[in-house]
Amino acid sequence: MDNAAETLMVTMERARYPVLVEAQALTTLPEWLKNLGLRGTLWLVCDEAVAHPYGRPLVAMLRAAGFTVNFTTVPSGEASKSSAQLGLLYDWLISGGVERRDTILALGGGVIGDLAGFAAASVLRGIAVIQLPTTLLAMVDAAVGGKTGINHPLGKNLIGAFHQPQLVLADTATLATLAPRELRAGWAEVIKHGVISDASLFAELEALAVERGWNLAAPGGCWTPDDDDLTMRLTAIIRRAVAVKVGVVSRDEREQGERITLNYGHTIGHAVEALMGYGTLLHGEAVALGMHAAARLALAMKLCSADLVQRQQNVLGAYGLATTMPPELDPSAILALTLRDKKVQARRVRWVLPTAIGHVVIRDDVPEALVRDVLVSR
Ligand SMILES: NC(=O)c1ccc[n+]([C@@H]2O[C@H](COP(=O)([O-])OP(=O)(O)OC[C@H]3O[C@@H](n4cnc5c(N)ncnc54)[C@H](O)[C@@H]3O)[C@@H](O)[C@H]2O)c1
Repeated sequence: MDNAAETLMVTMERARYPVLVEAQALTTLPEWLKNLGLRGTLWLVCDEAVAHPYGRPLVAMLRAAGFTVNFTTVPSGEASKSSAQLGLLYDWLISGGVERRDTILALGGGVIGDLAGFAAASVLRGIAVIQLPTTLLAMVDAAVGGKTGINHPLGKNLIGAFHQPQLVLADTATLATLAPRELRAGWAEVIKHGVISDASLFAELEALAVERGWNLAAPGGCWTPDDDDLTMRLTAIIRRAVAVKVGVVSRDEREQGERITLNYGHTIGHAVEALMGYGTLLHGEAVALGMHAAARLALAMKLCSADLVQRQQNVLGAYGLATTMPPELDPSAILALTLRDKKVQARRVRWVLPTAIGHVVIRDDVPEALVRDVLVSR
């Protein structure tokens, strides 16, 4: 590939795969498939919202390149991460004669990546999958790292498997059609990656915010497809954010250690998301609130400076993310839910707290009273 220099590599004990972040990356798929030796039937699982702009043109391109492609769409939204929808995919795959050498292509946001990824992990005891993320959140988070799965009526992501893709192609041109609110929620994860481990990524986000008058959340989101210069800058920023995830999952595939740092902002974020009622706040919006609270907690613990809290708040604001808790939320209820967070070990919450931009620590000795103070003082 001529853009090999820009290609990131996930390198794990049992898996190694390229991650390309590029405007028009989807057009390189046939060449990648040939290079990877994936010659079986392709099963394209596509979010119905992107079938017209990206799914059908992709099918046409792959067929023109000589591939056999089966195509199906899945209704948009979290409700599709269900056993019913998974069952429909199994029916489609098995009645269509899926074979072990075939490949599933997951085209859409995190919902499609998780659902189609889990179908690939389980059908015929596992076939290849390629992740083709079309939301910012899926590009910088869900598509890389191999977590796949569906929801159970009793909770999110309770059924699933680790199943690493053969390839991730993040085509940033697809972000031009993403709803501005979804785009903003994705920026929360990008900013998070800067805060947890890449100070120069954070500085670049800050510099762009300064250049744009601290407002990248203007109508149309901050993605203006006809502004090539901005598209290139944003694509480079997204690539750096993806590189953070690539690095973390390469070093810690199964969340034994460092991968936990990706949960920065999630302890309070998850609680807020649940208390507001799932679907009220987007995940990234809740994470932004959680990041601000976690930074203030770090300040109260004397782990970081007030300047860090302010810089993070400014950047979150510039990309259109709120940092003030919804007033209807009761701090005691948030506190109670953080104790049920999945990162609790022996009743102690494992907090991911920043010490400097680009560096976080994990602490399980944060006094409950301090968390309460931070939540009460908002
Ligand atoms: N596997 C992981 O490691 C991991 C990590 C984070 C999140 N997730 C999961 O990801 C899911 C959330 O992902 P998401 O935020 O991408 O949500 P999503 O997949 O629901 O997509 C958001 C919305 O954008 C639409 N859409 C997608 N791409 C578009 C495009 N290019 N243009 C126009 N519309 C488009 C979708 O139809 C949907 O309405 C959750 O289920 C979460 O659990 C998984």
